[in-house]
Amino acid sequence: MARIIDAPFSGVESGCDPRALNGAWGSLSAAAARGLAFTDEVRAKTDALYGKVKHVVPAVEWPAYAPLIAAINDLKRAKNAIVLAHNYMTSEIFWCVGDFRGDSLALAYKAAQTEASIIVQAGVHFMAETSKILAPEKTVLIPDLRAGCSLAASITGADMRLIKQKFPGVPVVTYVNTSAEVKAESDVTCTSSNAAAVVEWAALEWGSDRVILVPDEYLAKNVAAQTSTKIIAWRGRCEVHERFTAEDVAELRASYPGIVVLAHPECPPDVMSAADFAGSTAALQLYVEENRPAKVVLLTECSMSDNVAAAAPDVDFIRPCNLCPHMKRITLEGVYDALKEMKHEVVIAEDVRVRAKQAIDRMLALPKEKPRAFATGRLPVAVQLV
Ligand code: 13P
Ligand code: SF4
Repeated sequence: MARIIDAPFSGVESGCDPRALNGAWGSLSAAAARGLAFTDEVRAKTDALYGKVKHVVPAVEWPAYAPLIAAINDLKRAKNAIVLAHNYMTSEIFWCVGDFRGDSLALAYKAAQTEASIIVQAGVHFMAETSKILAPEKTVLIPDLRAGCSLAASITGADMRLIKQKFPGVPVVTYVNTSAEVKAESDVTCTSSNAAAVVEWAALEWGSDRVILVPDEYLAKNVAAQTSTKIIAWRGRCEVHERFTAEDVAELRASYPGIVVLAHPECPPDVMSAADFAGSTAALQLYVEENRPAKVVLLTECSMSDNVAAAAPDVDFIRPCNLCPHMKRITLEGVYDALKEMKHEVVIAEDVRVRAKQAIDRMLALPKEKPRAFATGRLPVAVQLV
């Protein structure tokens, strides 16, 4: 099972690549450099939060994180700010400074509704853009401008215009993992929580038996296996999920008899087919919480297991580790600096924002339902690649 470091899969005992994470030492020196220390006051402010992360943060490391956590939470109160934390954030960010936590769809709803004046996006750049598109009157900050996404980088607005020229009249459904410019060229957006539902809605609304679904080739193929609508796809890939293979699933089942295998729909179709359950990060979390499997593996970004484990202490998580290097750009000190120095502000040209918002609004206007699971065990279905 491939990881960020280029080591071959060697069972599932793999750990995270420490180079991609700051860890406690990084936070300790970052806190000290900012004049923050683990005082009695900090201890009193943060003691209750430690309970949420004690399964992943050893007690000896807590004094490294707590000063930054206390300072961030003070700054949020002083500035009327909130932190929107994606499920892939490390646990000390997710549980200790995140005000709202969830998948990209849940965070988009929250951005549209919040009364805070400042949103700090603890996630990647396209998520921060989505917040700004939905809440233009608010200041939206992304702690690190390098927090990109291989899917968002795979397609441009110019590509979209060419695709539309090639398939006139065919509705364009765009995965939210794209830039504002790409969303602006789309009819409607989708996330992994609602992709099949949005595709079916677009086919009906436009009276078309085909739908363009970009940019994730695997998501498109996985949606094609769930619907009778024909899909036209782009060749984008998630660099994290494309590394999982069906052989990995077989190896996991052989090593851990009875293990329940959950997969994110950015995984290749043969992985989805071999999994027991598949869906968005929110759907995977819900599955674990509702079904309490004795032993489970989440074929997705590795912080997800740490975060889900907080609410499911009785579940044994096997943790192969595929880090998203972009998500891991977001650190506690980055969130602190973002709030303190009001950086980096997300700015979108108004004409682009308005057109992108129309595509997102169409998605948000659809009936709100539980994250839709992808049926597993399906045979691959062909899609037309642009
Ligand atoms: P979710 O919408 O399932 O949270 O996924 C976002 C993402 O980037 C997955 O790689
Ligand atoms: Fe993008 Fe993949 Fe990282 Fe999600 S996990 S942000 S799709 S690169």
